[in-house]
Amino acid sequence: MRKILCLLLLLPVSLFAQRSEVLLDTGWEFHQGDGTARWKKVTVPHDWAIYGPFDRENDLQNVAVTQNMENKASLKTGRTGGLPWVGVGWYRRKLNIPAGKRATLVFDGAMSEARVSVNGEEVCYWPYGYNSFHVDITPFVHPGINELRVRLENLPQSSRWYPGAGLYRNVHLILTDEVHVPVWGTYVTTPEVQEDRALVRLETRIEQGYGALLETEILDPGGAVAASLSSVVSGAETIQEFTVPSPSLWSPETPSLYKAVSRVILGGREVDRYETVFGIRQAAFVPGRGFLLNGRPRKFQGVCNHHDLGPLGAAVNESALRHQLAQLKDMGCDAIRTAHNMPAPELVRLCDEMGMMMMVEPFDEWDVAKCANGYHRHFGEWAERDMVNMLHQYRNHPSVVLWSIGNEVPSQCHPEGWKVAAFLQGICHREDPSRLVTCGMDQVSCVLENGFAATVDIPGINYRTFRYKEAMEALPQGFILGSETGSTVSSRGVYKLPAVKRFSVKDDDHQCSAYDLDACSWSNIPDVDFALAEDYPWTLGQFVWTGFDYLGEPSPYDVDSWPNHSSMFGIIDLASIPKDRYYLFRSVWNRAAPTLHILPHWNWSPGDRVPVFVYSSHEEAELFVNGRSYGVRRKARPSAPAEGLQDECLEDRYRLMWPDVAFEAGTLKVVAYDHGEAVDSACVRTAGKPHHLALSTPVRHLAADGKDLAYVTVKVVDKEGNLCPMDASLLRFKVRGAGRFRAAANGDPTSLDLFHRPRMHAFGGQLTVILQAGDTPGNLRLAVRGRHLKHSTLSIPVE
Ligand code: GAL
Repeated sequence: MRKILCLLLLLPVSLFAQRSEVLLDTGWEFHQGDGTARWKKVTVPHDWAIYGPFDRENDLQNVAVTQNMENKASLKTGRTGGLPWVGVGWYRRKLNIPAGKRATLVFDGAMSEARVSVNGEEVCYWPYGYNSFHVDITPFVHPGINELRVRLENLPQSSRWYPGAGLYRNVHLILTDEVHVPVWGTYVTTPEVQEDRALVRLETRIEQGYGALLETEILDPGGAVAASLSSVVSGAETIQEFTVPSPSLWSPETPSLYKAVSRVILGGREVDRYETVFGIRQAAFVPGRGFLLNGRPRKFQGVCNHHDLGPLGAAVNESALRHQLAQLKDMGCDAIRTAHNMPAPELVRLCDEMGMMMMVEPFDEWDVAKCANGYHRHFGEWAERDMVNMLHQYRNHPSVVLWSIGNEVPSQCHPEGWKVAAFLQGICHREDPSRLVTCGMDQVSCVLENGFAATVDIPGINYRTFRYKEAMEALPQGFILGSETGSTVSSRGVYKLPAVKRFSVKDDDHQCSAYDLDACSWSNIPDVDFALAEDYPWTLGQFVWTGFDYLGEPSPYDVDSWPNHSSMFGIIDLASIPKDRYYLFRSVWNRAAPTLHILPHWNWSPGDRVPVFVYSSHEEAELFVNGRSYGVRRKARPSAPAEGLQDECLEDRYRLMWPDVAFEAGTLKVVAYDHGEAVDSACVRTAGKPHHLALSTPVRHLAADGKDLAYVTVKVVDKEGNLCPMDASLLRFKVRGAGRFRAAANGDPTSLDLFHRPRMHAFGGQLTVILQAGDTPGNLRLAVRGRHLKHSTLSIPVE
């Protein structure tokens, strides 16, 4: 057995040339706590806390959340997901190191306070759980088998949301020759971009490379050589400038990627080969005109996202991220803000490939505390190192168009706060002069008065839309970014009457209304932000809080409101099922495909008077109940530019509304018109008794890589296939064949069903089952059952 293990460990490195990279995903053992314990086999990425159980005591806090305008402490429940993420975790693994190589470990992120040791000696400490870091372990290893250990510790009250726990991102071992390009050793910019040519500037660091030859080829998106250069290495950095003819420009709509392939030649032998993927594009911010990508003005149609993947926890999975991005892109979203921390490298790579702009943001806290044990404890010693790693890691990615230096940091209101902003912005400018810098600010009075807002390249305002105009006039930059907007709250499929605007209202059912009129005391509904983007050329667009629901921060049910433990801000719920709001955004943001969506469900009681909303890209539509017309509605044209007031009435610009429809069982139908001609229709039908289960997935096949995921939507439907919108049946899952059950989620922010158990209650008649491919081809079969429901199966080929 031991022999087999050694052979397996030897395998990857036997493939190595001068450089090899080994993904350290298997072969790990884990235990919780510092004492002696039984080690358990795990694969990495791994999140030890996502298996629960949920418990009110896990993250009970008596605090005042000043960002939410609280000045008195109150008992917060579910604030960080109600999951057991606090404490110590240990990981260990064997490392096989060949003779004569330099060995470097790269951690994409380790939550948190990582202490890495090799053969019993501590080689690295990295406190911030979100950053990537690397360590050269060559002096600590010997040829053959070595032992790697990682100790992690999450302190209580160190986060405002669910941070995850453990080696939740990938770990890599990089083996090189003595002469090599170090980790994140290139910096590529495109200082000149024109239609017929682009100038590409590549800076390459080479360790011990004096006298070597650096031969670089630039490959175009089709893989053909677009330019090449050969340079003699005469210092730590070698600069090469290429002219690329007729460049294919990167944009969210055309995510064209180039690749610089750098070969280091010494004594006629290739000693290293390093690849840098990049894009050619121009991002400009012009006073009064706003943001221009490749010369064309556009507004950010962005969302903020936390890093957790709902039922998967913080453990990163590329396929899950791809699924999220596909949903966001279909909504017309073109940008993501990584709130409020460094993203996983997989996300940035996917944004490059799929076409999604990024605002990368490192911190929620600087030198002044938000959380008792937050990042402020490390800021003085670590901020610069954390910034440099982030900048070096991501500055070659075309998707990254903006750096943010922080979110609503309390330092905003300190007289010296602007100096900290200048310090962090200075690091960005020093390490990456090609991008501008923003900061999410919520204390508008402070930052306008104390110079903080005037310091940052791009003033980013969080909420407080009614102060955009004033900020624009007071500040020198000439534009305003909605760095964080919305914070509308809703529960998928839960409609409350009357359908009126409500701020921080709590109901007995612990849910918010899906009419998209509920927000928090500091926030607003989407219509306000749409109007500001439309009405003023100097607004840069927005980053909505949030694209997806996340674990923790269950506002407005955050004060002694257990069992709420996940957010209600998402446009898409925790189960990755779009809420109605998705279609409101899609109707405004997606200009390539039509949207026609009708709400609410049509299962009411006789005599109920029900408001009906239609979210559509069409300007005009007519509503029918069982064939009887309720009249035509047309979107209102603005009579004056919006003021950005929280309760300003802008809904009739973006929603078609019939406020008083008499419920009658049957069919609610909407017909959309274009210049009087019917062009599209949609309907909702009253559902009968729950009858069977309908399973669907956008996935046609999975890769047999042990990681690929299929999100399967399960619906409880009546005999005719209509969704039973109030159903909460307990459903059970059985998975057979070429893969396994990974997790399930139902999007109910109060649900205590464990994500990794193959049983869960439906919420609003729906839930999501996530299946994971195995590593051998075959068929993956899911069967779902529920009492009194005809069961259903679905099969996915794994190839
Ligand atoms: C903002 C904050 C976010 C989140 C949000 C909820 O003030 O930046 O992290 O807490 O409020 O509305």
